[in-house]
Amino acid sequence: MSPIYLDNNATTAIHPDVAQTMLECHLRGLVNPESQHLLGRESRRSLEAAREQLGSLLGLHQADIHADHLFFTSGGTEANNLAVQGYRRAAGKKNRLIISGIEHPSVSAAAAWVAAQGTDVKTVNTLINGQIDCNHLETLINDKTFLVAAMLANNETGVIQPISDIVNICRSREIPVHVDAVQAVGKMPVHFQNLGATSMTISAHKIHGPCGVGALITKHESAPLPILHGGFQQSAVRPGTESVVLAVGFAKAVELYLKTPEDHRQKLLGMRSQFEDSLLKALSCAEIIGRDAPRLPHTSNIAFRGLDRQVVLMALDVAGICCSTGSACASGSSEPSPTLVAMGLDEKTINAALRFSLGIFNSEDEIKAAITQICAIISML
Ligand SMILES: Cc1ncc(COP(=O)(O)O)c(C=O)c1O
Repeated sequence: MSPIYLDNNATTAIHPDVAQTMLECHLRGLVNPESQHLLGRESRRSLEAAREQLGSLLGLHQADIHADHLFFTSGGTEANNLAVQGYRRAAGKKNRLIISGIEHPSVSAAAAWVAAQGTDVKTVNTLINGQIDCNHLETLINDKTFLVAAMLANNETGVIQPISDIVNICRSREIPVHVDAVQAVGKMPVHFQNLGATSMTISAHKIHGPCGVGALITKHESAPLPILHGGFQQSAVRPGTESVVLAVGFAKAVELYLKTPEDHRQKLLGMRSQFEDSLLKALSCAEIIGRDAPRLPHTSNIAFRGLDRQVVLMALDVAGICCSTGSACASGSSEPSPTLVAMGLDEKTINAALRFSLGIFNSEDEIKAAITQICAIISML
């Protein structure tokens, strides 16, 4: 039996139509979109068309000279770093950065880096349901705050965050909000203008696009200062030759996903309900983390109480089920998930928790087979 891939929050298989579009773009020839000759100008047109398409699919203001920016980056990690470090550079005397306690390492480690340079970084508490504690956020804001960073949906629990409340809290104090929407795009409506955030990170490989491309979207007047130094590409905010092929693949992936968003959502929700309901019914030790909060339709974080997540992960791997624990470190063991720690869960639950993330290429038969395998393995262990 071929492996059953339930690790779509780590990365997703490229959609064949995305691969085909990229191949066609490759075959048109590699041309630097900065080149001034005819071929360079054609390449630039493809790049700008991809940028515009992404902008229109994700609700950017594009109409006039106040258009929002979309800076292509090498992925979500770079986009989050550009936001955290780039806004820090632009902040002048303002020195406080506030991040949620459940941010992806590309935000939390970037925050640790700027903290080491003297930035006053504060972390917002997380409620037991997995959502950011907005009351605590209010107590951390001061007149030196230059940015609040909060993700739209968590990569480990799938819990959707109260971004509109956070934006409202910050708007009255004129504090910019950066939103990491990497896991949310394609799984829930994401419309940059409606979100009300100052900046937003997206990444292609989580939605069946190519790995190695993402973007930082910002309001017109809120471009960060660069963290890379080089040429004048992308207004010198993100210098470096843009990859037309990756940009075109990214736009195609978002277009495909958003053609029938409700169909995707219903398919994912249906499979996840079947998955969770069956495991809860069959296994008294199973507990779904974040179940009381609104969640993305495809993520399921399950603690198998009394078991060690590494042991379960390995047994499932041998049986051909691909899922994940917290972030793996070099030794092959794994750190406790920072998100679950921030939620205040007890150590036993954290040590027993595994993340299953479904995708549109999973079939119901695969989900049924995974349920059977998981029940057998957990009962055996
Ligand atoms: C919420 C979130 N933000 C950022 C990233 C980083 O994105 P990338 O892999 O494109 O660097 C990830 C990747 O797992 C993520 O889940």
